[in-house]
Amino acid sequence: MSSLLITNIGELVTNAPPDAAAPRSGPPDSATPPDSGAPDSGAPYGGAPGPGTFASVADAALVIEAGRVAWTGPAARAPAADESVDAAGRAVLPGFVDSHAHLVFAGERGAEFAARMAGLPYQAGGIRSTVAATRAATDDQLRANLRRLSGELLFQGTTTFECKSGYGLTVPDEARSVALAAEFTPEVTYLGAHVIPPEFDRDLAAYVDLVCGAMLDACAPHARWVDVFCERGAFGRDEAAAVLAAGTAAGLQPRVHANQLGPGPGVQLAVECAAASADHCTYLDDADVDALASSATVATLLPGVEFSTRQPYPDARRLLGAGVTVAIATDCNPGSCFTSSMPLCIALAVREMRMTTQEALWAATAGGARALRRTDVGHLGVGARADLIMLDAPSHSYLAYRPGVPQIAAVWQAGKLATA
Ligand code: NIG
Ligand code: FE
Repeated sequence: MSSLLITNIGELVTNAPPDAAAPRSGPPDSATPPDSGAPDSGAPYGGAPGPGTFASVADAALVIEAGRVAWTGPAARAPAADESVDAAGRAVLPGFVDSHAHLVFAGERGAEFAARMAGLPYQAGGIRSTVAATRAATDDQLRANLRRLSGELLFQGTTTFECKSGYGLTVPDEARSVALAAEFTPEVTYLGAHVIPPEFDRDLAAYVDLVCGAMLDACAPHARWVDVFCERGAFGRDEAAAVLAAGTAAGLQPRVHANQLGPGPGVQLAVECAAASADHCTYLDDADVDALASSATVATLLPGVEFSTRQPYPDARRLLGAGVTVAIATDCNPGSCFTSSMPLCIALAVREMRMTTQEALWAATAGGARALRRTDVGHLGVGARADLIMLDAPSHSYLAYRPGVPQIAAVWQAGKLATA
């Protein structure tokens, strides 16, 4: 088994407690957990409850063995390895963890975007046009789109991503959506409760029964998560609670689209259900912020959506000030936000939501991992999956400092060079 040393790293962002950056003292395998290949679960790494923090090492090196981080620390103290890469002073970061994306779809909505930029509001009504296109597509067309978008994600530094269904909205179309998503990621979300499809317009209760019954039965074997769009015009509190309860009973873990277009019950419901994440969080009152702060539910902010819909950005400073764990994700979808670029979302979080560069980088890596209940990604502590990015820049801050400039020099996934 060969080892790889990446040395001469100007800034190594580990997001790991300082002791994990110390030279390994025990026998070679003592710090490395078994490589199960499956998502880890359980307590957040680092052991401490509450939001973690950015952590980095200057003039650093990192050793990869068997697809995991085996050692990190000052380059001057790095152990020998079978192969080495000279980072030439560039920054190395954990791969981005995009915890919110809708990638199983067909068609496009460029005209809807153009109309929005000409003054029309975003109303989420366009979802139905994507539903029609998705139903009409073949599996191979959907798979090709997924392959293209997951490639875009990887080339922009995203090494873990979540993917939702939600543009099929019939039993067979939702079932094939989750099955296709599972070909590309283990983080698959069943979103049968995205909108009410046209054929159920007059019978919301019947559609909720389907989502909680036959559709769930067909989708649960391929999914890890259940999500619901809890919003005026989509699913109200009672319907959303029923969907999350049915999903949980089928072995899925809840997450919620909450408070995106206006105030509402989504965040409170997410906290009550112990959801991993409440996503969007654009319109919050003090009780919503308090509920998030006293829970393990992550607030996932999606600034690409506000950029692409001209809605107000969520108040990240208020959430961070209250002690809420914040993640950033893309929400890549053909309607409200058609970007797969985590670097863009980081730049928006810094510029438009007043997050520091360190807070934004943490939210796009470790925060995303928290939102997916993953302890093996989002950080580069010893034992983490060796998912990492080398930037063509000396510091993570360049992601926001040079917005729009391609700066991902190389990406490793589980220790294997995936792009360069
Ligand atoms: O996260 N809010 C609902 N779902 C997506 C929008 C999907 C679409 O417009 O097609 C979102 O913004
Ligand atoms: Fe979404």
